[in-house]
Amino acid sequence: MTASARPQTLWLGRWGFVLAATGSSVGLGNIWKFPYMTGEYGGGAFVLVYLLCIALIGVPIMMAEIAVGRRGRANPVEAVRQVARESGRSRLWSGLGWMSMICGFMILSFYVVVAGWSISYLWKSVSGGLHADSVAGMAAIFKANNANPWNLGFWSTLVTIVTMLIVGKGVQAGIERSVRWMMPGLVIMLALMIVYAIVSADFEAGFHFLFAFNLDNLTGEAVLAAMGHAFFTLSLAAGAIIAYGAYLPANQSIVRTTLTVAICDTLVALMAGLAIFPVIFANGMDPDSGPGLIFMSLPLAFQAMPFGGVMAAVFFLMLTVAALTSSISMIEATVAWLNQSHGLSRRRASWGVGIVLWLVSTLAMLSFNVGADWTLAGKHFFDWLDFLTSRLMMPLGGLGMAILTGFFLRRHIVREELAMPTWLFALWQFALRYVCPIAIVLVFLDALGWLGSGLDWRWLAGMLVVGLLVELGLRARASIRDRAPVR
Ligand code: PFF
Repeated sequence: MTASARPQTLWLGRWGFVLAATGSSVGLGNIWKFPYMTGEYGGGAFVLVYLLCIALIGVPIMMAEIAVGRRGRANPVEAVRQVARESGRSRLWSGLGWMSMICGFMILSFYVVVAGWSISYLWKSVSGGLHADSVAGMAAIFKANNANPWNLGFWSTLVTIVTMLIVGKGVQAGIERSVRWMMPGLVIMLALMIVYAIVSADFEAGFHFLFAFNLDNLTGEAVLAAMGHAFFTLSLAAGAIIAYGAYLPANQSIVRTTLTVAICDTLVALMAGLAIFPVIFANGMDPDSGPGLIFMSLPLAFQAMPFGGVMAAVFFLMLTVAALTSSISMIEATVAWLNQSHGLSRRRASWGVGIVLWLVSTLAMLSFNVGADWTLAGKHFFDWLDFLTSRLMMPLGGLGMAILTGFFLRRHIVREELAMPTWLFALWQFALRYVCPIAIVLVFLDALGWLGSGLDWRWLAGMLVVGLLVELGLRARASIRDRAPVR
């Protein structure tokens, strides 16, 4: 069925897209990954680069993805093909849609394992299994939780089933309805935790750690990680935003919705940092304890609070819910593709995808127990999924999207979708044409060790100047062409 022949599903409510896309972007990445990455990469300098990546790369690419989704009115594979065709470009561009859809699936394969940790901690806090006297005690609980594949597999399977149930119900009755109440609850919980951090923990130390922008700490590795995470946290290049954009009503502003989503996402990440680091420092823990950070420090903090047990339960419930609102978005692209391009009902598509997802995620889950020795180049399957998606596929997908929308789509199509003032459009186009590709390529070169002594900022400035000259050249050529007498 062609995109135009298909009855179009749209978000029901005015806030449908914003809530769903914020639900997608606010997730484990904000509350679990961002704090531990900041801890590992040394704090404020990493945060600064991350914020720059969000503003200069994430926001322009998110606008492009929503525009492509809405214009194509279909799943990422179809939508990209459709907009490329409308601009007279090759069908091969749909490869970009393919890559993003596969990327979303791969992320979900390890994401459900972490979401499984959250839900198992919810259970532990309700059933009284989350008590320890020290960080070491909490670490032992975390280890024991991972060591049993049946236990871990149970929780990640549960997450998989709930995700597929919601997606199977459809865009409005499943996704939109479920995101409406979940995100505000999470924000309230985080706010409560910050109040706790101010009152009872070492807020000053935590704040300082997050916002002391010491650029000496910055390594090329940290820059690559910050950029990968900017894509991850905004759910870019993983099919989710294109898929959700396909349901965005024509009268809603892409610029405004993108800014709302990006700001909410960033605020939640910073709030999570402000809630967690003060507690870590107050308890004498190291901020660089890696992926287990939130599962050791937070329970310990709650333990010290009045009604801490209830608070812990509510927090882990909210964390689980935040993970779910992201999970559903990661798989929506694949389900929509099976539904729209292969005629499967949404329910069938969901179950089919769910089974494959379960198999792959089980392999990822085994990295923590029976498969602890199964490594390739020092990485487990779980780590490979994370590495390949965050470090490779997402930046590459972002690069492709920037080039497609910046150079190859017809200008009037993009302008119609984005509906922004000329100066803002010029800025957006400049970011997509030059800032995004240059930043992504430089960071890659650096990761490969081709820039010699690390990422040198003069490189970036130099390439931006070159970009500016190319842009001026393109403009001059266009205006000469416009002024040429018509023969
Ligand atoms: N943005 C989500 C988070 O920060 O947890 C993760 C994510 C969701 C990545 C959806 C990719 C995606 F398509």
